[in-house]
Order: sequence, then structure tokens, then C-alpha cells
Amino acid sequence: MKRTLRISLLFFVLPSLLMGQDRRNASSPFGVVASSSPIASDIGAAIMEQGGNAVDAAVATAFAMAVTYPTAGNIGGGGFMLVHPSDGSPPVFIDYREKAPLASTPLMFAEGGSRKNHRYAGVPGTVRGLSLAHELYGNLPWKNVVEPAVRLAKDGFVMHAGLARSISRTVQRSKNAEFKRVYGKAGGGQWQGGDKMVLSDLGATLQRIADHGTAGFYKGETAKLLAAEMKRGGGFITEEDLSRYRARVRVPIHFTYRGFDVYSAPPPSSGGITLAQMLQILENFDLKALGRWSPQAHHLIIEAMRRGYANRAKFLGDSDFVTIPDRLTTKSFAKELAASIDPKKATASDTLGPPITEEEESRETTHFSVIDKTGMGVSNTYTLEAGYGSGVVVKGAGFLLNNEMGDFNPKPGVTNRKGTIGSSANLIKPEKRMLSSMTPTIVGKNGKPYLITGSPGGRTIINTVLCVTINVLDFGMDLRSAIDAPRTDHEWFPERVRFAGARDPAHADLVKALTALGHKVSSGRLGDANSILCTGDTYHGAADSRSGGVAAAKK
Ligand code: DON
Repeated sequence: MKRTLRISLLFFVLPSLLMGQDRRNASSPFGVVASSSPIASDIGAAIMEQGGNAVDAAVATAFAMAVTYPTAGNIGGGGFMLVHPSDGSPPVFIDYREKAPLASTPLMFAEGGSRKNHRYAGVPGTVRGLSLAHELYGNLPWKNVVEPAVRLAKDGFVMHAGLARSISRTVQRSKNAEFKRVYGKAGGGQWQGGDKMVLSDLGATLQRIADHGTAGFYKGETAKLLAAEMKRGGGFITEEDLSRYRARVRVPIHFTYRGFDVYSAPPPSSGGITLAQMLQILENFDLKALGRWSPQAHHLIIEAMRRGYANRAKFLGDSDFVTIPDRLTTKSFAKELAASIDPKKATASDTLGPPITEEEESRETTHFSVIDKTGMGVSNTYTLEAGYGSGVVVKGAGFLLNNEMGDFNPKPGVTNRKGTIGSSANLIKPEKRMLSSMTPTIVGKNGKPYLITGSPGGRTIINTVLCVTINVLDFGMDLRSAIDAPRTDHEWFPERVRFAGARDPAHADLVKALTALGHKVSSGRLGDANSILCTGDTYHGAADSRSGGVAAAKK
């Protein structure tokens, strides 16, 4: 078994099993939330108990995670929310990705260096995004959905052992005085599981958001504190940047896969377009007949990934600034790509275009899924980019800032195997959104959500979503098995396959066969896919065993 999965099982799953409950799974006909934060999942379910719908629950869960899951839960970052309404109207995508500040220039990060600083912060989108989702779909008053997070921050919440360790370690390494002050233990020392964390400044900021909506963040005191923090730390975000920021309603990427409707993230995410290519390539083959762990099926999955990621690097960026070819998501294009796969040999990535390797993305983001009793589904992925983002806490406002500007291509025209990409689609421009891999996805059947999924993991996200989707749709796995199964990742460059089952003796023959086909196979932890599957009238929520999340049901 992989070490990380073993550790997850030891720290997260075993304790809850010993207490007689496995909170990773929850089923109900009335509504379910699956997230990486037990407290936040419970808050989402409680909001539905109060009469809230899936969007109310999602907004409350997201605000709660800004308190209880500081590696990725946020109000100082950005993300994407996909809503599948239950009244027959089409799914809607809410883009609250960060933007480059007005003062940005294409060469601002050409020198490289640490990304843990003010300069890498993009203009945060989360509060605008959650507010827009609520304005469009919410049932309960805004205050009701923000208030649980206000209480958590002001009154404190009990940390589990994993969070206590993560915060203690980060405080120790941090160079940001405000981070140390806010997240450090009074009198020094390590936090322990069971300790209570109070975040008063964050509570006051959340209170302003509860009282004044977006103006509580993008104007007035919070905006002033953020702009002052930028000035002190050499960052670029101004009060003007904040007041100009808007979340956007976009049309999701939509395609069919084996008769199901798949809705996923459009640009500025690369997720939906790349997923559409990979799944529609695979649709040309009978994966089920080949078998989930057969070398042939695996070879096809890897080659579909290689092709999807090659096109991702070549063509994708913020579609408000660049034109993206429509054909990328068509069946005919996927058919051409499928025909280029040699069933007996790994394709050399060079033959799909010049060697380009993107910067490695770090693995801290979070995804949660929600459904309510009417069948309205929400798929939400949001992030600070790296774990704890830039590591900068806004003085007096208590929230962490993202370092999302690192998702732009830093050096125009410079592409190499080492970690730089210079294709023009994703170069920095003022007010442009940086290309993302976040892929909140909803698979629909007969106009209703069937599978709600998504994941963190930087560029690996799209492949995690692919694996979960084929596990359910092609191989008929139940949701728990579909999520726990080892995942596979290939990103065109670097020219390697990461297969989470690579060290498992049960997969030794598979690894041998793939190696014989010319694939370089290594292992690696991939994703955290808190998902929901709808069968009949019942919604099954499953939190990924890799991270200690919880699925909570409305009774
Ligand atoms: O938007 C993106 O694709 C990245 N900034 C997400 C980073 C990420 O997933 C790191 N986490 N696990």
C-alpha cells in the first residue's frame, strides 16, 4: 500500500472506525455534503436542515473551510463553482478565479525565486464568487450562510491532530510575522489535536462580509487593510484592483461520454477542455471489455492523457484574452487523436509538439461536492494555490493571501524541459486570469446530476477527475471503490507516468507490461476527490480516504 494512503488510513480512518463510525461515507435522499473538513461538511448539512439548498450549503461550507482548512479553504484566493439546477435549466459555471493586478507586467516573474511572498498574490475572487452564487441561487439570507464561519473563527474550533501538526510545522517555517502571530500557539510550542484555535481578526473580517456582503471585503476596512499589507510587503494589489474585481458567470464545457452529459470547467480553467479530449478519445475504445487494470486499458488512458495535456499547454489560457479553437472539444478531433495511438507502443511526447514542461504546481487546493433534496448539485474547487498560499496573513484582517500568479507562464517565448513554458495563451497581462487545472465536474443522466466530483492536485487534477469518472461510468465501481482506486497521471511532459499503485505487488505485472510498452512508471500521491453519486432516489457522499474528510447527510 502507498505510504501516504497508509498514513491517511492510520490517522484519519482508523480513529473514526475505532469510535464506531466511518464518517467518510453518508447516504440520504435529502442531501449530502462531502468535503475535506469534517466541521465544514457538518455545517453544510446543517444549512440544509435549516431549509437551505445546495448552493446555500456550498457557500456556508466554503466560508467555514476558510476557517477550519487554512491550507486551501479561503477568502483570499479563488476558484470555480459548477451548479446543476434541479428545475431543468442548464448548469451554470461561476468563475471566481483570481486576476492579475493592474500593475502586472509580462516579465514580472521572469527572474523566478520564492513564491511565498506578497508579489505572487492575485486579486482574490472567492467572496465575489460565493456572493454571486448565492445571489443567483440561494434560498436563505446571506447572513445565515456566513454566520457559521463567523462563529467558528470568533469562538474557536477544535483542531484534529493532522491540522494541528500542519499548522505547527508551517508556523515554524514561516517568515511572515503576522502568520506566526495569528496561527502560533500563545507562549510558543506545538499545537495538539483537541486544542482550540481562535481566529479573532478573521472572525471580524467574516463579520464584515456577513454584514455588508462583497463590500465587506472589496471596500472599506478589509480593502484598506489588504492594500496596506501589499504596500508594506511589496505586493501589487490596490484598492482599485479590489473594487474592479467581478466573478463571472460562464457556460460550462459540455460534451457527452457514453450517453452521459458531462459538464466541466471552461477557461480560465484548462480542466473541462482537457477532460473532454481525454474522455472522448477513450470513448473510441471498449475500456470495460479490456478491464480496469489491464495493460491495454492503461496504455490507452495514458496516451489519452499525453494528447490532452499537449494541447492544454499549446492552446489554453484566459478566453477573455486569447482565442481557443472550438474543435478541441469535438468528437471528430478526439477521433483523430485516438487514431494516432499505437496500441503496441508509448508515443514519444516530442512527436506531439516541441518539448515544453510547465512549472510543477504544488498540491494544496480543495474540492467539495453538495446535493440537496431537490437534486440541485454543486461541484466546487477553490484554492490559495500552494498550501497556505503566499504564507502572508493580511495584518489586522486575519486571512491568508493566495500566490496564484505563479500559474501564469513566467517567461514569454521561453520553453524548455526543465520547468518553464512560454506559450502566449497564458502570459501575464493586467486583469487577466491565470490558467488553472481545477476541474469541478458534474456528470448528468436524464437531466439530473449523477456523479459530482473534482479534486486538488495542480495539473494532476484533471487526471484524477478522469480516473474517478471512468471508474464509475465504464467500470461500474461503487463510489467508495472508484475514489479509493489508485490513480494514474501523465502530463505530456515530463515524460513519465505516475501510478499510485506502482508499488503495490498486486499491480506488479501491470507496471511491467507498461514498462515494456515504453512507459516510464513511478508512483505518487494523487488527488483528494470528495464526491457524490446519485442512484435511484439516494445520494451517496464519499470523502476521499487520502485526506480525512467527511461526508455529512441531511436527515
Ligand atoms: O489553479 C490551479 O490549477 C492550481 N493553482 C491549483 C493548485 C493545486 O491544486 C495545488 N494542490 N493541491
